[in-house]
Amino acid sequence: MCVPQAPADGILKLSVLSRADSHPAKVDLGVGAYRDNDGNPWVLPVVHEAERRLHSDPNFNHEYLGVGGLPALTSGAQKLIFGKDSPAQGRVYSMQTISGTGANMVAAVFLKQFKEPSDACVYISKPTWGNHRSIFETAGHKVLEYRYCNYETLKLDIDGMLDDMRAAPMGQIFVLHACAHNPTGIDPTEEQWREIAKVMKERGHFPFFDCAYQGFATGDVDSDAYAIRLFVAEGFELLVAQSFAKNMGLYGERTGCLHAVCQSPSVLPQVSSQLNRLSRATISTASAYGAKIAGTVLEDPELYGEWLMSMHDMSKRILAMRWLLKNKLVKLGTPGNWDHVTEQIGMFSFTGLTKKQVEALRTEYHMYMTDDGRISVAGLNTHNVDYVAESIDAVIRTVNV
Ligand SMILES: Cc1ncc(COP(=O)(O)O)c(C=O)c1O
Repeated sequence: MCVPQAPADGILKLSVLSRADSHPAKVDLGVGAYRDNDGNPWVLPVVHEAERRLHSDPNFNHEYLGVGGLPALTSGAQKLIFGKDSPAQGRVYSMQTISGTGANMVAAVFLKQFKEPSDACVYISKPTWGNHRSIFETAGHKVLEYRYCNYETLKLDIDGMLDDMRAAPMGQIFVLHACAHNPTGIDPTEEQWREIAKVMKERGHFPFFDCAYQGFATGDVDSDAYAIRLFVAEGFELLVAQSFAKNMGLYGERTGCLHAVCQSPSVLPQVSSQLNRLSRATISTASAYGAKIAGTVLEDPELYGEWLMSMHDMSKRILAMRWLLKNKLVKLGTPGNWDHVTEQIGMFSFTGLTKKQVEALRTEYHMYMTDDGRISVAGLNTHNVDYVAESIDAVIRTVNV
């Protein structure tokens, strides 16, 4: 066998560097995980309560789940994404997956095997979550990019995006971030989503929604599902990858779902059988523990209500950090316009810092962020935000481009 070296994964490499740095001023803004105001991981109170209930249940066990996953999870997850009275009801198959990444992978393989035309390419936003290209290429797709971020203004390049959708051959696959776009934090407005849906319909494109941050964009799960629900109402067939890593804090428990919205209930048996086959071939059955936690929360109205409040709290803290960072940069007179810090949404901010500036922040100030200048705003807190702003200010003044 002749095996070439695989390219390093930027985020994983960053985590290794950050972990090895024991400097007291270290700030890790790399990992896309929520942190509390003391920089610690947060186990949501509803997760603690669901765990307590699971462990006090005399019937609790570690048996295999069925091939489609835990019904309490898949049905609750379906309602969460599509809403209670969705026009898709009765023609959606929801299957449990290994978190959002697993849902992306099953979707990628499914589309490769069944999407027509068979030479349809996958279009990902420029930029996008680093794993999208890898997942779709691994599944055998040709992956192309559509314009998304205007790198001058750090706003959505809606004209470029729509032009690229119009210019693509009919019937291509478009990967869309349902909300809280990673890495830019730039989401289309509702009006822009309507334009996107219109153009995609005209061109017969297939929407694949990746929804890893429902509840993190606006703090409201329904608002964050706007785009998906719009496309469903417009009659699209589509797939949705859904993760409970961020919004329920179940990162390592690998809890997620893939939803397939079909044109008609009559094709559900075929679609579900093929998705089950793919899942069986790769993971056999999904992981039980996180599913039981999430299923308990989704099924119990009281826990569900508390969970919504926790999501609201997390998104409120992130928003407060955006304002503190921006205000401090403005106060310091840091060259540049910093409005994008508060205009962007969700867990991330695309700062506009260059690769060299990012490197200088890492080596001189022990601040970790991805090479494209993305920070996880959840890593900021009232103890480190001044240091972060002062470091950015110093680097911008000294390290040119
Ligand atoms: C856009 C996007 N999709 C999917 C994922 C997958 O997350 P997980 O597999 O942890 O659910 C992430 C995580 O960072 C993401 O940002």
